[in-house]
Order: sequence, then C-alpha cells, then structure tokens
Amino acid sequence: MNIGILGGTFNPVHLGHLYMAEEAMKNLKLDHVIFMPNYIPPHKENSSVSAAERVKMLHLALSDHPDFSVSTFEVEKTGISYTYETVEELHRRHPLDTFFFIIGEDSYVNFWKWKNPEGILKYVEVAVIERTGFPKEASSKTDELFRQNHKKAFRILSETVDISSTDIRIRLKEGKDAYELLPRKVAEYIKEKKLYLCSPWTFQQLQTYVKEHVKPMRYVHIEGVVEAALLLSELYGGNRDAIALAALCHDMLKDHEVSFLLELIHRYGEMPVDDGNSPQILHAQAGAIYLEHVCCIRNEEVLNAVRYHTTGRAQMSLTEKIIFIADYIEKGRNFPGVENLRKLAGENLDQAVLAALSGTIKHLESLNKPVAAVSRSAMDYYERVLQERTKHEQ
Ligand SMILES: [Fe+2]
Ligand SMILES: [Fe+2]
Repeated sequence: MNIGILGGTFNPVHLGHLYMAEEAMKNLKLDHVIFMPNYIPPHKENSSVSAAERVKMLHLALSDHPDFSVSTFEVEKTGISYTYETVEELHRRHPLDTFFFIIGEDSYVNFWKWKNPEGILKYVEVAVIERTGFPKEASSKTDELFRQNHKKAFRILSETVDISSTDIRIRLKEGKDAYELLPRKVAEYIKEKKLYLCSPWTFQQLQTYVKEHVKPMRYVHIEGVVEAALLLSELYGGNRDAIALAALCHDMLKDHEVSFLLELIHRYGEMPVDDGNSPQILHAQAGAIYLEHVCCIRNEEVLNAVRYHTTGRAQMSLTEKIIFIADYIEKGRNFPGVENLRKLAGENLDQAVLAALSGTIKHLESLNKPVAAVSRSAMDYYERVLQERTKHEQ
C-alpha cells in the first residue's frame, strides 16, 4: 500500500491540513493518509490545549474521511520524537508498505536542518505541497541533500491554501471568528470547550514577567508603588486587587526598546500618544496594550490606571488616581517637595493629583520638553473641580 504521513502539532487541525492530505492522495494515488500529531513539551507556548484534545479534534476532523486516520504514536511516546525515528519504526512495523512523508514547501526548505534527514530519506518518499512565494534558491540546500541521497521529492502543484494554526489561535484569542478555516466539527468542539481563548495571567505570572523584564532598581521602585498604592487604598477605598495589579504592572515595559513599544502599539491598531515626540510616555500606552492583549487582563480600571499613570487625564477613576500618585510618592522618590506631596496625598487625593500634574508640567516646561495634551487638560480639569468644590464649601 502507498501510505501518506502528515505530521504536525495540529494545534488545531484546520482545512489546510485536510487539503494537503487530499492533494497528496489524489496526485500520488495514495491508499491512505495517516495524520501524526507531534508531542508538544509542556513548557512550550500555546500548550494550553492538551495532546488528548488535539487528538480528539483530529478524530472529529477525519470522521468523514474513511481513508484518513490518526496515529498517536508520537504523542504517546512523549518527549521529543524525531521524524527519522518515527519513520524507521513505521517501516519496521509495515515493511511492505511505501510511505510518503507529506510536507509543505516551507518545511521542505528547512528539511536539511532536520535531525538526521538522511535517516528519514532511507525509509520514506517525500511529497512536497508547493506553495507560491518560495524562491527556487530557498530550497537549494535541501535539493542538494536529496541529490546526494539519490532521491527526488514528489512535487505537488496546487492552489495555495494559506491557513496557519498560529493565525487561528491568535484570532480565537482575540475573540475573532476563525471558524471558516476549520472543519465544522472541530469548530464546534473548540466553541463548546472554549479552547484557545485568552486566559488572564495570574498575579504570580505577572510578577514573574515584571521581575524578569525590568532592571533591578526599577523593580524596587515598582514594589514601592505597590506599597504606596495599597496604603492609599486603605485611606480612600477602591478594589485592592485591581490596585495592586495596576501598581505591579504600571512600568512593566519601561525597560523595553522604544521600537518594541511602537511595534506593539501599531500592531493593535493604535497611534502612539502624541506629546510632541517624547518616547518617555510610550511605556504606559504599550503597557496597557500588552496587559490587555497578551496577558488577557480585561479589567478596564487596571488598564486605564496603567495607560494614564504618566500623563494623568481628566476624570480619573479612584484606581487611576491612586496609581498616578503612588508612582510619585513611593518611598524611593526624593525630589524636592515630595514630602509635601506625601502629606497632601494622605489628606486630599484630588489636590495631590493637581499638585503632581502642575509640578510635572512646570518641570517639563523648565527643561523645554514637550507636555502631553492629555496632561494639560487633566490639570485644567482638576483645577476646576477643586475650585468648584471650594466654592461649594464656602
Ligand atoms: Fe512609568
Ligand atoms: Fe513608575
């Protein structure tokens, strides 16, 4: 028998996989195609979906195709399985069959880098589903390897189906629809089991990330902000968990390159906050985006507290004000006037916000640095609010 083997993580299996198998079957007159999911090491990203679920989805996807089947050989073996070991084993078990290893053009290009590629070629034929957009030179090293081993890849020309499991996972994580790229039963299963949805990082996960991605001195500052914010929350109330989370994450991207921040901001369809080109405040905007889209934190209060912690804004929520002030007065700060601001923060939060805003604006102006428009309107707003409050009290 001629048997095709299609390997991959199938995380999840999609219509592109089925198309590859069908094309190979038709072109090479295969009797059967085996889908062989790889084992994914537990520490690998996106392993939130278990091997059993990946296999289950494959069974669902192939249920209407009597000539396709699933092999759990690699998944059950656990640990990294090398293709050369798998094909050797297949040959040992079925010495009379001819196996065709089905790969996409992108895998073919890198085939020469695989572990023991000669070992693979000893036991199987290779079928390549061609993809447009790959220049001939890209595969020259693999072509050479095949020549040396007196082999020729079977090339299957077909209409490109450009579907990737990674894109599907990203779409689902962002709450977008990806179901038209999946076999119907797989789509229903993913929906029912809520697979690939974004699950919020825990406080511990965020803490680990922050610790690993900011300079040690910055982490000391962050701990100071958490402490100051919780003290303010004792005085003024608010959701302590949200406040601690926002304080922990407010500077999470402060030590990243500006290019990384800009890329992140653009990737999620925003324009960088315009303060007349100071990169200083981008970490706040990018931090909020990262928290929402990568860490899956959907608490608006936390996101806004991070987003506006440098500039402030009019009509800040209690959490926003607390983080804004805590960032100014945490115990590591020692600029002139910080003691007064600490005292004021304990007495009247809005007045402390106004004092901090006007202090910063004056400071930036004295250095001839740009001031964000949102900070100026915040200052106007809090001036007005406090004036009206005083009038009211008189
Ligand atoms: Fe900051
Ligand atoms: Fe800070």
